[in-house]
Formats: sequence, structure tokens, C-alpha cells
Amino acid sequence: MTNSLNQVYPVIWHNNAVSLIDQTRLPNEYTFVEISRSEDMARAIKTMIVRGAPAIGVAAAYGIYLGAREIETTNREEFLAQLEKVAQLLSETRPTAVNLFWAISRMMKTAYGSLGTVEELKQTLWQTAQNINSEDLQTCQAIGDNGLQALPSSPDKLTLLTHCNAGALATAGYGTALGVVRSAWRSGRLERVFADETRPRLQGAKLTTWECVQEGIPVTLITDNMAAHCMKQGLIHVVVVGADRIAANGDTANKIGTYSVAIAAKAHQIPFFVAAPLSTIDFALSDGSMILIEERHPEEIYQVGETILAPTGVEFYNPAFDVTPAELITAIITENGVFAPSDLVKSQVKQVA
Ligand code: MRU
Repeated sequence: MTNSLNQVYPVIWHNNAVSLIDQTRLPNEYTFVEISRSEDMARAIKTMIVRGAPAIGVAAAYGIYLGAREIETTNREEFLAQLEKVAQLLSETRPTAVNLFWAISRMMKTAYGSLGTVEELKQTLWQTAQNINSEDLQTCQAIGDNGLQALPSSPDKLTLLTHCNAGALATAGYGTALGVVRSAWRSGRLERVFADETRPRLQGAKLTTWECVQEGIPVTLITDNMAAHCMKQGLIHVVVVGADRIAANGDTANKIGTYSVAIAAKAHQIPFFVAAPLSTIDFALSDGSMILIEERHPEEIYQVGETILAPTGVEFYNPAFDVTPAELITAIITENGVFAPSDLVKSQVKQVA
């Protein structure tokens, strides 16, 4: 939903159910899907009605509550056993974005740690899902503001390139990479955004440009294979992207194509920033080779609308994410500050200055 400031909130609690912006229909239709069952939430995450790492975390948190609401027993142990099945279902939706598992784990820890009746426990789970949603919004605003401080001081007005959609639609609102864009725009530091279209699902073309248009941010859409050329022409000052999972050493999984943008940025000495909440950092993984990369249906490659793009007999490979090595990343922008990838462990400590 949007308010008068054209803020976009992709996941909201409304009328005793969850309202999701149907991101599969943007930019042509701005519609909502009402979800009141955990199974439907799992399907919405899988089919990418809701997508983007923090947003699927928020959606999964509500999914846990919806599942809790469906459980009829008043016996606490029986309730927790059934809730584990809901958690399992939701965690099987998408493998790469760690925010999904982070949110499910936070909800389950809340369930196990809460005293009182099953009815009270359900209420606590609802409140926790609401908190995850509102905290993510604040986190994104902090990321935007920290990112603004990290931008090069010259030229006065910058052009930023981004890949995929790490905007309000991909979070509770405001966005991570697009949060930096928003903060730069609102403080007069932004000239324009270049948005990679982001084959095969076109999140850049369909979602990032839509968000920019809502807020009046000047945006230029390019196809993915134009990014290096634009850099060489001097059209790009900074790259800022989101993340689905960041390993302890700073290696970053994000939408497929991010890695090639990072290589091109390095070749042209353009700063390459990753903007992400701490909930996207997986300190359990020492490096990016351990990140599980989702593979999606080949149809995303060979079909656009009704048009088939390749002859029969062709084989396809459709990884949805890639891993950008830490050495290609200038810094990681979090709600706690901006860190060199090698200093990521310090991000867990709130900066005082
Ligand atoms: O497959 P998607 O659309 O869920 O992938 C989204 C991305 O790769 C985003 O860049 C990432 O989740 C960061 S969102 C703030």
C-alpha cells in the first residue's frame, strides 16, 4: 500500500489478514493479495508474489503467526509440535535469502521462550511479526542514511547504478540499495538512477523503475549487458546493490548478474556498495562458496509472456543468484554503519559515533 508520500509497504497486516502487493503484476497492475493461511503464504513466497530478502522474512514471520492461528489445541507441547511443521513448510519456499530463516528462527524462539496459555502465545507471535515488520522499516531508513554518508563527495550530484530490486518492495518499505537512492534523492545528492533490467525476471525493469517513478526519482532503464558500456562512458559514479545472504568474510549473494556488475565496476574504478540489514549476514558461513544458490524453472529464460524464445531441444541453466567475492566490494552498508567486508564482524556492535 502507499501513503501520501508514495511510500510503498509490500506486506501489511490489515483486516485480520496479511495484504501483499502482488509483485508479479507490477508495473501493469497495482493489486493486493489477501493471505490468511500459512500455506497460502508459503505459496506467495515461492511464486514471488512477495520477494526480496527482507520482505520474504517479514512475510514468513506473519506466515508463522497465521499457522499458529490455525492450530486448535490448547496443549502447549502439541501446539509447538504443529508449529514446527508450519516453520518447515515456510522454510522450504526459497533457499538463498537468509532473512527467511532468520525471521522463522526468531518467531520459533519467541514461541519456545514464551510462557502463558496457547492463546497468549499466539498473541505474542502476532506482536513479534508486527515488530519484525516495523523494525525492518526503521533499519532500511538507517541503511539509507548511512549509505548517504558513504557516497563519494564529488561530483555534487551522483548517478547510481543498481541491479534487481532492493527497494521498498523488497523490504518492509524504503529499501536497502534503493534506501540509499531515496536518501540521496531527498538530500539533493542524486542526479539519476540507472536500473539494470535484471533478466530473467526483470525486477529492475518492472519494480525498480516503478518505485522510482512513484517518487519522481529520475531513472534510466538499461539492459543488463549495457552496464559496462555505461561505466566506460562515465555515466555511472557509484553502484549500490542489495543482498540475499552475506557470508562472514563479506562474500555476497545477490540477484544473478550482480557479480558481473561488480567486475565491471572494479575495471572502471567505480565504488561498489552492498546495502543490507544485519539480518542478511550469515556469520555461520565463513565464505560465499557455502551459500546455497536457488535454481528456478527454465521457463523464466525461454518464455516471455506467450513468446517462446528458444527452439526445442535446448538445455537451460537458471541460477537465481550469484556470489560477488568480498574483494570486489568497496563497503557493506548496514543499519549499524558502513563496514569494509573484512571488518564485517564489527557490524554486530552498534557504533556510537
Ligand atoms: O529473486 P528476488 O527478486 O527475491 O531477488 C531479490 C534480490 O536479489 C535483492 O537484491 C535482494 O533480495 C535484496 S532486497 C533488499
